[in-house]
Amino acid sequence: MGLVTGACFAKLGNTVICTDSDKTKIKALKKGDVPIYEPMLKGIIRKYRRMKRLIFVDTIEEAIKSAKVIFICVGTPSRENGEADLSNIEKVCHEIARHMHSYKLIVEKSTVPVQTGEWVKDTIRFFRKKKVKFDIACNPEFLREGSAIKDFMRPDRVVIGVETKKAKKLMLKLYKPLKAPMSITTIKGAEIVKHAANAFLATKISFINEISNICEATGADVVEVARGIGMDKRISENFFNAGIGFGGSCFPKDVDAFIHICDKLGHPFRLLEDVKRINIQQKHVFIDKIRRSLNGKIKGKKICVLGLSFKPDTDDMRNAPSLDIIKKLLNEKAVVKAYDPQAMEKAGEELGDKRVKFCEDAYSAARGCDCLAIVTEWNEFKKINLKKIKKLLKRPVIVDGRNIYDPAVMKKSGFMYTGIGRRI
Ligand code: UDX
Repeated sequence: MGLVTGACFAKLGNTVICTDSDKTKIKALKKGDVPIYEPMLKGIIRKYRRMKRLIFVDTIEEAIKSAKVIFICVGTPSRENGEADLSNIEKVCHEIARHMHSYKLIVEKSTVPVQTGEWVKDTIRFFRKKKVKFDIACNPEFLREGSAIKDFMRPDRVVIGVETKKAKKLMLKLYKPLKAPMSITTIKGAEIVKHAANAFLATKISFINEISNICEATGADVVEVARGIGMDKRISENFFNAGIGFGGSCFPKDVDAFIHICDKLGHPFRLLEDVKRINIQQKHVFIDKIRRSLNGKIKGKKICVLGLSFKPDTDDMRNAPSLDIIKKLLNEKAVVKAYDPQAMEKAGEELGDKRVKFCEDAYSAARGCDCLAIVTEWNEFKKINLKKIKKLLKRPVIVDGRNIYDPAVMKKSGFMYTGIGRRI
């Protein structure tokens, strides 16, 4: 998120100085290497580095020296109890306070629980050397991995939480070139917008996943049902796909953090606790489907897993459902062959299990398998040569966790096909 924000603000005409506590990342970026896969990002970074509008430096001191606006984009991971761990924010605040010598607008871009802004303000006020003036703003980011540049440059809205006229003016000026609808709130308001927006989207996914189970129990088709519901503009068909549950670096963590802060505030968010429960359950639903398609026995079966990243067009493996699914399959003594267009290296590191055989393409992964499981809906799997796949599989069994195929077509092609909440 930090890198995308930096690159896009450079594209909008600003000079952006980026730094990170991970020096290997900065070293790579200084050489022109981009440590993550994100469509269009590399080209933008290269262009604006060459124009010296995007600069990478080793220390916060160097980064903030001449900057007027400072975006905090550090990670806010979950602690074991679900609470957001704000120690990275704290460290950065100390450094900013120590090194700022002129007015700064300090912007929370990381997702943080409500009231963090107040704490950031107090921390900086306490640790600043002289009485240097500063403002705080909260400007949550809604970009999605895989379409991050597009989401940044053409957002549905920009949310800005501010408490002074000066901060508001500066933020509006920064975002003016985007010509996006603006939502101006208090700092606390903007903090809640971010948690609540992610909580709502996660709820939408768990809702349709639960509906998919009802469809399955009754012989209805969740794709038709989702369309029927979503054509109501108030609900919308977007982000309403049943599957194996949500993953990624945001939803699971933000749902946990929101549950935790609501508890702490004395308002337990029971609905969100259920959203989380359904999301965990959905992975079991998927494993059960695989088991059933193998006549009740996973042990000793060879399973091809297609797609590892938490969603397509990214190599991000953070909270990827594939990790839990593969671990469960291995626990039940399956042999797992896997393929992903981008995420195999990271998946290998995350899984750290030599039993998983990573393959060079979908076809070699399918060869000799008893079952093919679609875990991430990469485009190349949608366009796969099904005739070839059928020949390569030991048994023509497909369990499609993302509903990328048409059940009728699959049946006609001779597959034993199971989707999520589909009518066969
Ligand atoms: C999310 C938010 O969308 C974004 O606004 C926020 O800034 C960061 O978190 P991201 O994590 O990149 O973005 O992925 P997103 O596209 O939202 O998908 C999240 C998860 O939900 C994925 O695992 C995806 O597979 C799942 N999902 C999404 C579904 O299961 N069904 C859907 O209909 C949509």
